[in-house]
This record gives sequence, C-alpha cells and structure tokens, in this order.
Amino acid sequence: MTYNIGVIKGDGIGPEIVTEAVKVLDAIGTKFGHQFNYTEILMGGCSIDATGEPLTDEAIAAAKASDAVLMGSIGGNTSTSPWYKLPADKRPEAGLLKLRKSLNLFANLRPAYLYEELKEACPLRDDIIGEGFDMMIMRELTGGLYFGERSTKEENGQLVARDSLTYSETEIRRIAKRGFDIAMKRRKKVTSVDKANVLDSSRLWRKIVEEVAADYPEVAYEHMLVDNCAMQLVKDPGQFDVILTENMFGDILSDEASMVTGSIGMLSSASLNDTKFGLYEPSGGSAPDIAGKGIANPIATILSAAMMLRYSFDLDAEADAIEAAVKQVLKDGYRTIDIMPRDGSTVKQVGTVEMGDLIVERL
Ligand code: IPM
Ligand code: MG
Repeated sequence: MTYNIGVIKGDGIGPEIVTEAVKVLDAIGTKFGHQFNYTEILMGGCSIDATGEPLTDEAIAAAKASDAVLMGSIGGNTSTSPWYKLPADKRPEAGLLKLRKSLNLFANLRPAYLYEELKEACPLRDDIIGEGFDMMIMRELTGGLYFGERSTKEENGQLVARDSLTYSETEIRRIAKRGFDIAMKRRKKVTSVDKANVLDSSRLWRKIVEEVAADYPEVAYEHMLVDNCAMQLVKDPGQFDVILTENMFGDILSDEASMVTGSIGMLSSASLNDTKFGLYEPSGGSAPDIAGKGIANPIATILSAAMMLRYSFDLDAEADAIEAAVKQVLKDGYRTIDIMPRDGSTVKQVGTVEMGDLIVERL
C-alpha cells in the first residue's frame, strides 16, 4: 500500500527527531512492503521566517490532502526569540492551534507508560512506583480556554485581559465517548477530571460525562477535581487508566504525567477527528536549549509514528514492531541523556541519530 504522510519538522529539536522517525518508517516500509510518500509542510517559527505566517492556507491544504501528518515540535524560547515579539495570532503556537481547529482534531490521546527499564529514571520513590503505571490522557483539543473569545482592553484607566472558557454539550459528549471507547479496550476505568466545585463549564462537563457513562456499564468511572488529580499523579499514578479532561487541564496534566514516566522525551501523542486522519507528535516541546546538539530523544516521535500506523493506517503489526524495537533498545541498555538513570554505570549514553539507528536495527 501507498500512504501519503505530511511531515511538519517545525522548530528547535523538531527536525532532528522527525528525521529519525522517518528513518524508522522507511525501514518499516521496506520490511513490510509499504510505500510512504512524504510532503514537507511548514508550520511554526520556520514558517514565520519563510512566509510571515505560522501556518499558511497552502500548508493547511497540504495537511488536509495527506492521509496523516507527522510532526516534530514548534516554537522557540519565549523570552528571547523574536517570534514572541509578534502579535499573539502570528506566533508559532498559533499555527498549531489553527491546524488543530481547521482539521477538527478534537481528541488528543497522550499515553503515559512507565517502561520497566526506565524505573531508574522515574523521579518517584520505589514504593510509589509500585507495579508501575500505564495511563492514557484523553484531552479535549479544540475547545475551552484555547479557543474562547479573548481580549485585552483598557477599562477605567488600566488594562484588563479576558479569556473565556466555553464548552457545548456536543463538544463534551464526543470527547467523553472517545474516552469511554478507549477505556473499553484498556482496563475499563475512566477518571473524568474537572473543577466542578468552581466552574460552570466543569459542571456541564460532569453532567454530560455521566450521561455518556450510562451507555458504558462495564466501565468504572469517577470524577476527580483537577487540583486533586495533579496531586494523585505523583502520589499514586498506578490508580489511573483513562484520564478524560478538557483542553487546558489536559495540557497541564499531560506534562506532569509524562515527567513521572521519567522523561517527556518518551511520550507520543495522537490528535484525531471523526475520520481516519490524525496528527501525530511527541508530547514534548521544541526544547530550544538543546536544539542542534544531537542529544534530543527521538523515541517519542518514533512512537508517535507507530501510533500513526495503528490509528490512521490500521497497520497494527507494523506499529507493534516499532514498539517492540523501542523496548528492546532500552533493554539492551541504550539511553539518550534525558533518560539516563541516576547511577549511569550500567547503560550507554547515545545521541539522537544513534538512537534512531539502534531502533532500526531491531525492527
Ligand atoms: C501541547 C503544547 C501546546 C498546547 C502549545 C505549544 C500551544 O503545550 O501540545 O501540549 O498548549 O496545546
Ligand atoms: Mg503542553
């Protein structure tokens, strides 16, 4: 089969980590007899530099014309990069938000899984790690504070800024269904996270989640306040299966969940709509501080490519092969700097390209 993949390398470490994921995809293509065609799409700071816009209409059209899009990361140092002197809607992140909205990518799946081999890189105590953990954060991605009306205006002689948090029943219902569907394929537990003790949007969230839950009698579900959830993630991460939550809470909790797995450099993510199309990207950012040094961990991007094979192309065996190769590399004792154990004597530190090569060797 032939698959057309849009590739957004982006900024910072983006180009380095995407190159390794493409290398792995090509090796999969050779091994399993698929043809992957790539179309490069500009987004983020590199697009601003080339076109003046973080995402052009042409780029959106190219993404829409692809079977799926693989992305690295976008953005730069928010204190020093000239991109952050631009108006908010012209900055790198605005490109990503526009892409999510234009393609209706409302469901963001972020798996957080502790590899046995990485227990040593996990910042939590052994008694908290216990048997390890394996959770899926299901984050709503096209609503809430990210897309509500906003303004900064002078009122009574001072500046006043407003951001609004809006959710409709339809938006909540469709993401809740996705969360329960995924739970049915996992350990059948949903923790819906909100701030229903304060926010109206959260009270509606809770009501709709309860309605959806009624259609899934096999799934155990609970509601949890977001502040408590932030605490529970470091107190007892093993209790979670699917965490279902709105856009902003999901942004914050997914960074936290990723860090308890040892490194944000390990976590993949998929942003899906109602079709087979998806945008696949590592959960981490562009890490401008280490860009170009050849030390970034490409595993999250490689695992995102595996998610693309699984969710957009239904190539389960191929996705399994990538995930198994990643596990094997870790078992064989290779680590990028971000996942080095506290006592590094028993493993070997490798760079971005070498990690990609080692994974390809094990496919
Ligand atoms: C993420 C990122 C984005 C977000 C930024 C880059 C706009 O942090 O994908 O988690 O907040 O959604
Ligand atoms: Mg984030």
